[in-house]
Amino acid sequence: PLKAVIFDLDGVIADTAVVHHAAWKQLAEEIGVAFDDATGERMKGVDRRGSLDILLERATRAYDEEEKHALAERKNAYYREQIAQFGPQHLLPGAQAAIASARAAGMKIALASASRNAPLLLDRLGIAGLFDYVVDAGRIARSKPDPEIFLDAARGLGVAPHDCLGVEDAAAGVDSILAAGMAAVAVGDSPALAHADVLLPNVAAFDIAQYTT
Ligand code: G6P
Ligand code: MG
Repeated sequence: PLKAVIFDLDGVIADTAVVHHAAWKQLAEEIGVAFDDATGERMKGVDRRGSLDILLERATRAYDEEEKHALAERKNAYYREQIAQFGPQHLLPGAQAAIASARAAGMKIALASASRNAPLLLDRLGIAGLFDYVVDAGRIARSKPDPEIFLDAARGLGVAPHDCLGVEDAAAGVDSILAAGMAAVAVGDSPALAHADVLLPNVAAFDIAQYTT
């Protein structure tokens, strides 16, 4: 029986997928590396360093470790500048209701975000108190699509993975959920999400009753 729902943050609860995208795009332009929407889509759900590696696939020169570190920091500064202005109005429509309805149905609730900015963002959105467990992204060794982060969330809740449902907007995230042995709900319209168990246009369409009865 379903006992827990594990949510991704960026692009599921918070309207930040576009902010990450814009920050990477700005960096790409500044260093003269080609960047398109398909590249941005592949970066979704992937941690900061993994995203940079995707960006640099099209670089015309090699970057050493020190330079890569500086580039990742620069992108993060652009991102932080934007979310410093964030408030509850940056919750995606229906996100808070989705969490509340899952809780009302007796589910435990966790957050599985690869973002090291997740705690700050939860505070700014005013929803830090809604989760029974928040994964510490800094302690996750293998980025989505590896199942580690969703398995850590299940462990943190004390619920078996097969009794968990994961909600994601990224292909790498859906892979991670499925590899963890959980049911996957994807939100969005990307063709890359077709392998999820359920595909919803957005988080407002999430209805816990469909999975508990
Ligand atoms: C989420 C986002 C990614 C982002 C990653 C790391 O998974 O979907 O776009 O790269 O978090 O975020 P951070 O805030 O730690 O750079
Ligand atoms: Mg996401």
